[in-house]
Amino acid sequence: MRVLDDIDEKIDKATKLLQGGIKEESLGHKDKAKEYYFAAYRLMLEAANASPPDLKKKRLDQCNIILSAYQRVNENRTAPAEEKTSDRISEGEALLEEIGLEKPEIPKVTFEDVAGLDDVKNEILGKIVYPMKFKELSQEYNIQFGGGMLLYGPPGTGKTFIVKAIANEVRARFINVNPASLYSQWFGMFEKNISKLFRAAALLSPSIIFFDEIDALVPKRDTSNSDAAKRGVAQLLNEVGGINSQKNKNLFIIAATNNPWEIDEAMLRPGRFDIKIYVPPPDIIARKKIFELNMAKVKQAGNIDYNLLAQQTEGYSGADIEFICKKASQNVFMEAVKSGKQRQVETRDLLDVIGSIKPSIDADLLSKYREFAGF
Ligand SMILES: Nc1ncnc2c1ncn2[C@@H]1O[C@H](COP(=O)(O)OP(=O)(O)OP(=O)(O)O)[C@@H](O)[C@H]1O
Ligand SMILES: [Mg+2]
Repeated sequence: MRVLDDIDEKIDKATKLLQGGIKEESLGHKDKAKEYYFAAYRLMLEAANASPPDLKKKRLDQCNIILSAYQRVNENRTAPAEEKTSDRISEGEALLEEIGLEKPEIPKVTFEDVAGLDDVKNEILGKIVYPMKFKELSQEYNIQFGGGMLLYGPPGTGKTFIVKAIANEVRARFINVNPASLYSQWFGMFEKNISKLFRAAALLSPSIIFFDEIDALVPKRDTSNSDAAKRGVAQLLNEVGGINSQKNKNLFIIAATNNPWEIDEAMLRPGRFDIKIYVPPPDIIARKKIFELNMAKVKQAGNIDYNLLAQQTEGYSGADIEFICKKASQNVFMEAVKSGKQRQVETRDLLDVIGSIKPSIDADLLSKYREFAGF
């Protein structure tokens, strides 16, 4: 039995190395990730070669999965290679155009651009990103992935932003369904358009359908009185349920809202949007990072006291902080234009703007989310 123990040990080690590689890759440490993947590959290959025939093939398949991860990092690709399926793509794009939606792209935002929200990121990595990147492997571990995901929380906390980062991470097209842009065009055609939308998304896979402000799209049914609207919601629920029951999927459905208590409860039942994630306002560390990320884009940024700014912005959202940085830079720019003298943006310029705008998140609002989440 010594040989078999040895094989098990190798597989065990290879799995750990693979997980290490995934982690390093997600952190952007390409060289480290490569080392991990390569070591995992070699061990798995040794294990496969020493395995009895019935297990050998399966293990060789795993070697190939690891090797493709290695190659992906090596070639500096961020995800599985895109297939050449231009017909399928253009058909999907045409369908989206018919229902008034923009041509979807793979967003440029990455997880590194998202400050804080570590719990949210981990949940998303475990439930969407890794299972989608390492499909076969996730099946080996019986990881059930997918389910519609609902992100909820105060305005401007990075919900839309993080969904774009997910799409980037899994190289999926981001199909943005924003109810504001739909209402006029979808009037009376909701049911039909929903089915077109899901057909398009399948053609465009890997893709993410993102329902922004889902509360406006599927309000509690007692508040939406028309039969057509009710049928539309039923159709949406059907489609979501259908997608979620597919095992090997390349299509994700993510919704976001500021008002989770206003959504039709049927949406939140198991098999639908049953993964609910609270996206909280940035804590002090995240606020510091958001200031830093935004000011890093400003060439004329001086020596800024980021700790002080973070302390002074309790209750301000990520979007508020982005605005503060832009406004402060704009003010100094205007001053430079008028005076003809250039100077750097300083801490005091940012503090001035902070003093002039109110935080968008207050304790009352937070307690409403707490109540909804039951904590
Ligand atoms: N955690 C964060 N890290 C970095 N930037 C952030 C973060 N949160 C918000 N921002 C900045 O604020 C902007 C607005 O965020 P986003 O649109 O994702 O908020 P939201 O939660 O979707 O808001 P709403 O509920 O109003 O739709 C982003 O484009 C980003 O620049
Ligand atoms: Mg948003």
